[in-house]
Amino acid sequence: MVKVNDNYLKLPGSYLFSTIARKVNAYAAAHPDKRIIRLGIGDVTQPLAPAIISALHTAVDEMADAATFRGYAPDLGYEFLRSAIAENDYKARGCGIEADEIFVSDGAKCDSGNIQEIFSVDNKIAVCDPVYPVYVDTNVMAGRAGSYDPATETWSDVIYMPCTADTDFAPMLPKETPDLIYLCFPNNPTGSAVTKSRLQEWVDYANKVGAVIIYDAAYEAYISEEGIPHSIYECEGARTCAIELHSFSKNAGFTGVRLGYTVVPKELKVGDVSLHALWARRHGTKYNGAPYIVQRAGEAVYSKEGKEQLKKQVAYYMNNAAYILEGLKSAGYTVSGGVNAPYIWLKAPNGMTSWEFFDDLLENANVVGTPGSGFGPSGETYFRLTAFGSYENTVEAIERIKKL
Ligand SMILES: Cc1ncc(COP(=O)(O)O)c(C=O)c1O
Repeated sequence: MVKVNDNYLKLPGSYLFSTIARKVNAYAAAHPDKRIIRLGIGDVTQPLAPAIISALHTAVDEMADAATFRGYAPDLGYEFLRSAIAENDYKARGCGIEADEIFVSDGAKCDSGNIQEIFSVDNKIAVCDPVYPVYVDTNVMAGRAGSYDPATETWSDVIYMPCTADTDFAPMLPKETPDLIYLCFPNNPTGSAVTKSRLQEWVDYANKVGAVIIYDAAYEAYISEEGIPHSIYECEGARTCAIELHSFSKNAGFTGVRLGYTVVPKELKVGDVSLHALWARRHGTKYNGAPYIVQRAGEAVYSKEGKEQLKKQVAYYMNNAAYILEGLKSAGYTVSGGVNAPYIWLKAPNGMTSWEFFDDLLENANVVGTPGSGFGPSGETYFRLTAFGSYENTVEAIERIKKL
């Protein structure tokens, strides 16, 4: 008789955002007169930039003409997009990444979940705590996480690297040696960033112990300070130990359009096995390419007009971030993030737990945020607000919180 993959059965309860949605829907149903402001989920709200809309329209029209119609896209991405990425995201920053080391996909969530497939289930993973939950859950599904302890909310075979106020919300090198290390900077959920010299320590460590770093750069466009790396390949030696994930969701508003890419350098090898070759095989076998129309929209992100328009869009969100950061600080909250990332990480006041503060904010300010404990045990007593709302809503939410 058929058996299910019982690793799925080990996954605890409902996903963080479904619990939030359930609570918010229940509150809204009981209080239809209240206007709830959502600063919880990390989804963008601004419309696509004109340069992107124009590229989409042109590509749609091409599909209507037999002479320019396109069918299946190349599995690994169209050359026009891969070259634009290599030039703009890498060569312009002095990183020697070539177009054929870039694999275009439908987003960083899928890639961050799928990448573990090319590694043995015997590998030990290390994750930041708190963490973007996809890294852990996909390793649970693969059978790499061991057993779950509901008391500590941790998995027996996962190495957790606490990111606390004492470490500026960055991980320290783990005592136990991992095989796969997930890093995400600028960070979701804490909004923290690391300097190039701190990231270099991780690259040196990974090369020394023979580990691979999976570096999620989804929020790179939000970096505003000097000395913060936009890519792990700015560090020396990263080509032999790091895979980098990128998304078009946060820099260009593609959360509903879907586009991302993963970089696997050709020098990245385990023994004499090329990870580039394994990922190419996986991608080519299981994926039929991001849509042509969407890849043309991605190309427009790198056009002169696209860059100018998106710079303004990111600045719009970061203006919200600054408003949240300053507003909460002036109200006496302990706050961080929001400078190189669209996330603000605050300590729940008066000794409240993350979920107690969630309920307090929902009921008394009608503002929705995300409880830090949903991202891992070290997130307990913290809370995440996003800068992705409209400016008007952001201002109103902060004014309401100040009055609590
Ligand atoms: C750290 C991180 N990686 C990846 C993603 C998902 O990106 P995408 O929309 O490209 O799938 C998110 C979305 O919130 C994220 O926070």
